[in-house]
This record gives sequence, C-alpha cells and structure tokens, in this order.
Amino acid sequence: MSLLFSSLRLKNHTLKNRIIVSPMCQYSATDGFATDWHLVHLGQFATGQVAAIIQEATAVVPEGRITYGDLGIWSDEHIEKLQQITKFIKAQNCIPGIQLAHAGRKASCEKPWITRDQIAPNQHNGWQTVAPSTIPFNDNDHPPLALTKEEIKQTIDAFKQATVRSIQAGYEIIELHGAHGYLIHQFFSPLINNRTDEYGGSFANRIRFLLEIIEAVQPVLTTQSLWVRISATDWAEGGWTLEESVALAQILQEKGVEVIDVSTGGGVRHQKITTGPNYQVPYAAQIKANTTLPVGAVGEIKTGPQAEAILQQNEADLIFIARELLRDPHFAMTAAQQLGEEIPWAPQYERGKE
Ligand SMILES: Cc1cc2nc3c(=O)[nH]c(=O)nc-3n(C[C@H](O)[C@H](O)[C@H](O)COP(=O)(O)O)c2cc1C
Repeated sequence: MSLLFSSLRLKNHTLKNRIIVSPMCQYSATDGFATDWHLVHLGQFATGQVAAIIQEATAVVPEGRITYGDLGIWSDEHIEKLQQITKFIKAQNCIPGIQLAHAGRKASCEKPWITRDQIAPNQHNGWQTVAPSTIPFNDNDHPPLALTKEEIKQTIDAFKQATVRSIQAGYEIIELHGAHGYLIHQFFSPLINNRTDEYGGSFANRIRFLLEIIEAVQPVLTTQSLWVRISATDWAEGGWTLEESVALAQILQEKGVEVIDVSTGGGVRHQKITTGPNYQVPYAAQIKANTTLPVGAVGEIKTGPQAEAILQQNEADLIFIARELLRDPHFAMTAAQQLGEEIPWAPQYERGKE
C-alpha cells in the first residue's frame, strides 16, 4: 500500500489518507459571512476523498481580514452557515478544519482579481491596519499602527473566542495562521517587528504572541486538534530563519500542537524566493528531522507519485495541496488511480469507476 493512502492517527482523530486541502482564500464573503460558494467549494473536496480540509484564512476580528471579502468568525452570527459546511464535510467522512487568522499590516486590500492593492483607511472597504511595529509591507502602503500591549491581549482573546465559535461550528482542526507575513509571522520576523518590549527583540520575545495565543486556545479545546502553519524562512537577509523555525517547532511540540504545516515566505516585499516543484519540501524535512511532530509539506505538489515520493523519503507526514485542487477538486481520487490504489468513493460516484 502507498504511504499517501495510509491513515495517520492523531490523538483524537484519524486522517484516512495524507492529503490535506491547503487553505485558500476565496474572497467571496460579505461581512465575514460564508455563502453557498464556500459550501460548494469546500464540499467538492470532501466528495473528492481528501482526509481533511483546512478552510481559508478566517479572520478573528474584522480588521484582521486581508480583504473585505474574507471569511470571519468574530461574531456568533457567523456560526450558522459554517455549521452547514462542517456537517456536509463530516458526512463525507472528511475532517473539517479552519485556519484562524489576522492579517496585521497586510490587511485592508482589494480582492486579488481586481487589483490586490491596499485600500487606504479613508477609502470604501478600507481600514487602518495594525502590526507589531509601524513598518508598512509596501513602501506606499498606509503604515500600520503598532499594537499596544492591551491590544495584543485583546487580539489573543479574539483568537480564543474564535476558537470557541469554531468548535460550535463543528470544526475538528484549528489551524493558527503563523505564515505568509500575516500578524503572527509579523511578530516572528525581525524585519517587521522592531518592538523593544517583551514582544520584540530576542527569539523568545518574537514567538511570545503565538505562544500566548496557544495558551489561550488550548483550554477551550475538547477533542479538536491544534495545528500551526508557519513560514519556515523569510527568504531575506536578517529575517526569520529555518533554524528559528526548527526551534519553534520543538516548542510547539511541547505545547501540544499536533501538526506543523510548513510553508515559506510572504513576510517582506524584497524576499528572494526560488520556486519550483517541491520547493518548500526541504524546509518541512528539516523540521521533521528535528521533531517528533507530524509535518505537512506544501507547494507545487501536483501528482500522486510526487506526493508519495515525499512521504517515502521521510520528508513529511502530510501533503497539503492548494492549486492542483482548483484544477482537479477530486485530486485524491486521481492520485489513487495514479498510484494503483483502490479507495472508497462516494456511493453516488461509484459508477464513475466503470
Ligand atoms: C487562491 C489561493 C488562496 C490562498 N489562501 C491561503 C490562505 O487563506 N491561507 C494560507 O495559509 N495559504 C493560502 N494560500 C497558499 C496555499 O495554501 C499554498 O500554501 C500555496 O498555494 C502553495 O501550494 P500549491 O502549490 O499546492 O498551490 C492560498 C493559495 C491560493 C492559490
């Protein structure tokens, strides 16, 4: 049997195979509310036999949205539609997960298919961004306000309240978005965070915000699994490094995080990134070699054999797929066929095997 279609046991969950839907913003919400688009978009992956789906970056406060079209979970009213989504996913024997996020200085943007530019706070659909420090992402962005210590506490509480609502909505995986230059990553990176208090400077200070979120979130979890996505490097001189990522992963392991999902980059505009098939896998592999945590690899993984080779070489435990699932929402069924595996399909689809 292939490793890609072997199950993985976590504390309270069994992933039926190693294919996870990587979070993908759809910019299709209004005031944070999910719509039928999200139900169909996420539902098709569940009918396609992936093990788990991590829903797109879902903002814990309104000003934490990348765009005005992002999903949000800052109010109880958001829960009802999300419940419909998780119920459908679970009915397909798939595990629903949610990525809880705050975009920090990269918030208040236009939808990417319009311009992707930041919208100034005094413009329609724009707002004042916040960050660890006042350094903007783009030189011509309206600079963020540096969070006060009191505001940091409130943001941590917003992650906690969002977790409570996520559980009410039926999610079984809570993934904290610590990657791609969003707020948690902004604290990690010395290129973005120049605070002089206990949230800036040393490694211990720069990871404090994430650790305090984890401390706030852990007690409200019942059976849910806590995952963290990080960018394992800033791809920039003087930025967050792979060595720091390994050290952080070791701490997360102690803190009861069950999976680390390893991406890279997105922190600074001047990053020098080299992309290509498996381009982030070496980062996942380094973290895997230095922890006992299950590790997810992501980035330009497009076929069953490619994913299988990553697992066979012991470079990761889980394979996160984003864009290939936009091209082929039933990628897991395709990958099984490529690897000569027989996997159960939804009974409604069985005749497609003929
Ligand atoms: C449309 C789109 C939206 C995305 N939104 C998110 C997101 O909400 N959170 C996140 O962590 N990554 C997001 N990403 C990054 C993907 O999860 C993934 O890490 C990246 O696309 C590389 O994987 P791939 O080569 O399989 O696409 C997004 C990617 C795409 C294409």
